[in-house]
Amino acid sequence: LKLDVNLTPIAKIQPTMYGIFFEDINFAADGGLYAELVKNRSFEFEQPLMGWSQPATDPYSTNDDSGIANTLNFAENTTNKNVLRVNVFNDKNYSLVNEGFRGMGIHKGETYRLSFYAANPEGTIKRVVAQLVDAKGKAIASTTIPTTHKDWHKYSQTLVANTTEEKASLKITFEGKGTLDMDMISLFPKNTWKERENGLRKDLVQLLADLKPGFLRFPGGCIIEGRTLAQRYQWKNTLGQLDNRPTMISRWNTEFKHKLTPDYFQSFGLGFYEYFQLAEDLGAEPIPVLNCGIACQFNSGELVPVSELDPYIQDAIDLIEFANGTTQSPWGKVRADMGHPEPFNMKYIGIGNEQWGPQYIERFKVFQKVLKEKHPEIILISGSGPFADGQMFDYAHRELKKLNAEIIDEHYYRDIAWFKNNATRYDNYDRNGPKIFAGEYAAQSVAVVSPENKNSWETALAEAAFITGLERNADVVQLTSYAPLMAHTGAWQWSPNMIWFNNLQVLATANYQVQKLFSTHKGSELVSITHAGKPLTGQNGLYASAATDQPENALLIKLVNTDADARHIQFTVPAPVKKSIATITYLGAKHLLSENSFASPDQIKPEIHRQGFKNNTLTYTAPPHSVSVISIPLN
Ligand code: AHR
Repeated sequence: LKLDVNLTPIAKIQPTMYGIFFEDINFAADGGLYAELVKNRSFEFEQPLMGWSQPATDPYSTNDDSGIANTLNFAENTTNKNVLRVNVFNDKNYSLVNEGFRGMGIHKGETYRLSFYAANPEGTIKRVVAQLVDAKGKAIASTTIPTTHKDWHKYSQTLVANTTEEKASLKITFEGKGTLDMDMISLFPKNTWKERENGLRKDLVQLLADLKPGFLRFPGGCIIEGRTLAQRYQWKNTLGQLDNRPTMISRWNTEFKHKLTPDYFQSFGLGFYEYFQLAEDLGAEPIPVLNCGIACQFNSGELVPVSELDPYIQDAIDLIEFANGTTQSPWGKVRADMGHPEPFNMKYIGIGNEQWGPQYIERFKVFQKVLKEKHPEIILISGSGPFADGQMFDYAHRELKKLNAEIIDEHYYRDIAWFKNNATRYDNYDRNGPKIFAGEYAAQSVAVVSPENKNSWETALAEAAFITGLERNADVVQLTSYAPLMAHTGAWQWSPNMIWFNNLQVLATANYQVQKLFSTHKGSELVSITHAGKPLTGQNGLYASAATDQPENALLIKLVNTDADARHIQFTVPAPVKKSIATITYLGAKHLLSENSFASPDQIKPEIHRQGFKNNTLTYTAPPHSVSVISIPLN
């Protein structure tokens, strides 16, 4: 096949073209990215002792003849209502165990930071012994902490593990007789991302950093909306001292067929400050999304009357001050007090997640009016509903165009064929309408939104074909992100996901590899690549897009072959080249159904090779079912 490349720039490829959509789903925050190992550290779950037990007698009880544990309602109406009260009857070494998030992942030789608050009013509990124990109950790390203070006091101690264990737990044994009150029992690895105390799991953040994402959208998804308005995500509750952040049930608690997660609560230890900080670490634009006065329309769909939206809009105004305001402003001061006097330079806010219909448009209009008056510098992202083609999207686009909306967020969880067929989705899109944020997408292997869906190579290949279409339309498509981002293998509600993890390991899926390939080769100017005068949108199974990369001065050709046969292509570079050697980064798999797994994580991973060419003309054979990026240095 003879291809024609024309280096005249068509559009700028935005630095935000490939980014990350983070949602606290599938234990992605607590139990995942947020490195806290203790589940229900502050005893605020609906069942206040969930996650804690007295293992010697009964795995579900905290009581035996040596002692009992209860929670006390310590201070009604505050955000941290409950404390633990332990009554030890005799010296039989009463103990409590925290099970972690499907266990605790502990690494040999690593240091763990334990901290807790305790009050010892009678002074009769002399000390506590804290141990990390393996799945069989054998200690793999131990420390003793004298509980010397009668009044509330924060104790901190470190433990070093002598063994690696995926399903460890934290055992606390009380020595003495009498009463001890405790709260905020916390255990973190010392080795978090950037060694922050309230830190994130380093291996997971590293995978995100390797994507070189242009943006980080947070904190979700449906969790922004909440099943009810009372359960919506409220960013102000996620700031400040950890013990002042209220715990809340997750929108994803006991969701889906598997019902694996009745213990899904949000500690908000990973809150808005930490999200902004993560975006900064990743060099990504922070894109917070706020509730727009509608609870999840898949659940209650509860609505705030349009005339009563003020507090919701005020939240957006305050967020702008929190992110960008001076340290003299009230919310800017909160940011500074948390350790970041410099502004976060937020440029975007999402108004509502995946809301639809006239109810959304009516509410967006009110947000837009106020925010554009007060903060014209902030780009507003509007929603358009779920899984969409057809009428729902058309309606949103029509109405949002009338409102001069800037960017519309579209979500598509579709089958493999849809992704291949939709490489042309934006070819005829209205160039005078709002720009596009392809904010959530993933090809579904079995059925749309089924828990049986796999991260097969076939799905990743279809996404790659689709992405060439997003890129060819970079003048309108300005932000894109796969969804969901990550899932715990023992506690998930949704599949497929871009990254899977257990307590010790992370797994980059085939879909991750495709995202990374495009994101790290996005280029800066879109140029054209055609066959017989037409873009490649599936003819002979081939899809393509091309860009030049200005800082590197290179030509980048992205070629997706969805066919079972190899395809031979040839093109001439219409400009002097620096060297007649192309670097080819290639992704492929043995079978369409191949997947990366913990046992075999590198089945689908990039391979790089170099290929010489002559007279500016390169011939390349795209293997069956493959994605290739051909990079040519220009002079
Ligand atoms: O990504 C999972 C869910 O899909 C998101 O929470 C929601 O926005 C969409 O319906």
